[in-house]
Amino acid sequence: MAMLSAVLHEKGLVDDAVAMATAAIEAAPESMAVRDIIGYALSNGVQSFHVPMLLDHARNAAYARAIRRMVHPGMRVLEIGTGGGLLAMLCAEAGAIVTTCEAQPTIAATARAIVDRNGFSDRVRVISKRSDLLSIPEDMDAPAELVVHEIFGRRLFDEGVTAALRDARARLLVAGAPALPPRAEIRCALARSVDARRRVVTIEGFDMSLFNLLTVPGRQLRLKKREHVDYCSETASVLRMDYDAPSPFGPQTETVSLVSTGGRIDGVMQWIRLDFGAGETLESDPFSEDGASSWGATLFDFAAPLETAPGDIVEVTLSHKDMRLLVDAVVRPRSTM
Ligand SMILES: C[S@@+](CC[C@H](N)C(=O)[O-])C[C@H]1O[C@@H](n2cnc3c(N)ncnc32)[C@H](O)[C@@H]1O
Repeated sequence: MAMLSAVLHEKGLVDDAVAMATAAIEAAPESMAVRDIIGYALSNGVQSFHVPMLLDHARNAAYARAIRRMVHPGMRVLEIGTGGGLLAMLCAEAGAIVTTCEAQPTIAATARAIVDRNGFSDRVRVISKRSDLLSIPEDMDAPAELVVHEIFGRRLFDEGVTAALRDARARLLVAGAPALPPRAEIRCALARSVDARRRVVTIEGFDMSLFNLLTVPGRQLRLKKREHVDYCSETASVLRMDYDAPSPFGPQTETVSLVSTGGRIDGVMQWIRLDFGAGETLESDPFSEDGASSWGATLFDFAAPLETAPGDIVEVTLSHKDMRLLVDAVVRPRSTM
């Protein structure tokens, strides 16, 4: 059955592959070989963030509270980016009629099976499509009254939230339908890192530095690494997006002046904050009190470390273009201000 699941998956019969995989694991729950065959086949194309994300209790609970506050029985909800179906089921549990779409076909098929297993198939329709390919009335009977979205990457924009919500607002929502969350922003601070930057320089006597051309700027910081990074300024909010406002929802570029506490600065730490309204926020700063965000943070290294005196201003410019977040910085010594 496990092999059959793998073959079905390869042929694009993803719902059948998920059903066969479920049956295979039920038939041989102890078998690691069965799990191996299924895992290698079905995980193909599934991004690795899904499991940490589903285990991120603070994230799940913040969405659950906001959904219970915003959704009322009979409401038509569009959720963009089903994943495992968690947010869609929370909306259905609150009484909504939900259309949810997922760009990755195996994830969509698995979400459909999860929704079915939890008894929500009559109220949650999982559509295996990117949101910009949805249409009314083929996929949704009528425009939605609320759009729920969690298509935020570590750098906020890197899962395409701006374009997806722009398109949904234009075609799939009633005028003025609220977004959940309604707001999100970038958070940042100057930072010093005790870890050597991971740059390719001379390796075994060869100049390999050109290989750095193939890397994206920014180090992903895993959780609980406070001992490796210090903030060298206050934290700041930039690029505040308001998804209830007309597209493009907020500024494309913004400069913030951060006051250095002095000494060497290696770069700019960046993370995200979501604002659900009614005082409910969720921040991915891995060094915050509650820590443990599945998003983590990014350290954008300067081309070379900056030496600063206390009070020097570092002007940090953040801009976003399509799905990319760009960071640049200039020092203004205190004496020249
Ligand atoms: C960060 S996960 C969130 C999953 C789920 N909503 C949750 O919160 O547990 C985002 C998911 O949305 C999908 N996705 C991203 N942009 C999408 C789009 N425009 N249309 C459909 N699916 C999208 C990705 O493939 C991914 O599975």
